[in-house]
Amino acid sequence: MIIAVDGPVAAGKGTLARRIASHFGLKYLDTGALYRAVGLYMIRNNQDPADQEAAVTAARHVGEIDPTDPALRDEKTGSAASVVAANQGVRAALLDYQRNIAKSPEGAVLDGRDIGTVVCPDADVKLFVTASAEVRADRRFQELKGKGQNVTYEEILEDLKVRDARDSGRKSAPLVKADDAHLLDTTKLDIEAALEKAVEIIGNQTS
Ligand code: DC
Repeated sequence: MIIAVDGPVAAGKGTLARRIASHFGLKYLDTGALYRAVGLYMIRNNQDPADQEAAVTAARHVGEIDPTDPALRDEKTGSAASVVAANQGVRAALLDYQRNIAKSPEGAVLDGRDIGTVVCPDADVKLFVTASAEVRADRRFQELKGKGQNVTYEEILEDLKVRDARDSGRKSAPLVKADDAHLLDTTKLDIEAALEKAVEIIGNQTS
């Protein structure tokens, strides 16, 4: 079973996808972490994420970034990730790795922006997880504040809108709901309610 979970930044798709994977005993891949690793590699090497050639080279070095490195979750890294993610060469370099995980014998849940449209267009179930920009910004703000980061809600909301526009407006694999994806709006749902809804959708689709 392959489950694709796509949606905009801070919609809660990471937490949801992880919970779906553990509920059904599937592998889990956070594909955003791959783009973040490219961004972080470039930041650490004093490179400009907008430098197309350097970004493609950086994509071949993602294995050098520790997947548990807390810097992967920084806002700065997220912004750099959003820039490198618009680079077709970077996307192509990361595609096989994602598809190989999707093909794991036990099945997998992948979360990202283009899983249902590009990486796994034949996924058994596709979820498009979203929430209002204000709720997403507030969730991200609480998360970062909890980690002691010095950020304001306004900054986060502004950055989120910029990233939404960049992720949705890019030519290569833009963030878009696949025609056959189920829309899951988590604006008024907590994680338990969202999981319940997702499990119901997956059950209906796969039974
Ligand atoms: O989900 P995230 O915030 O960790 O993703 C970081 C950036 O990577 C985001 O701005 C968009 C990009 N991304 C993408 O283009 N395609 C994916 N499958 C996953 C993430």
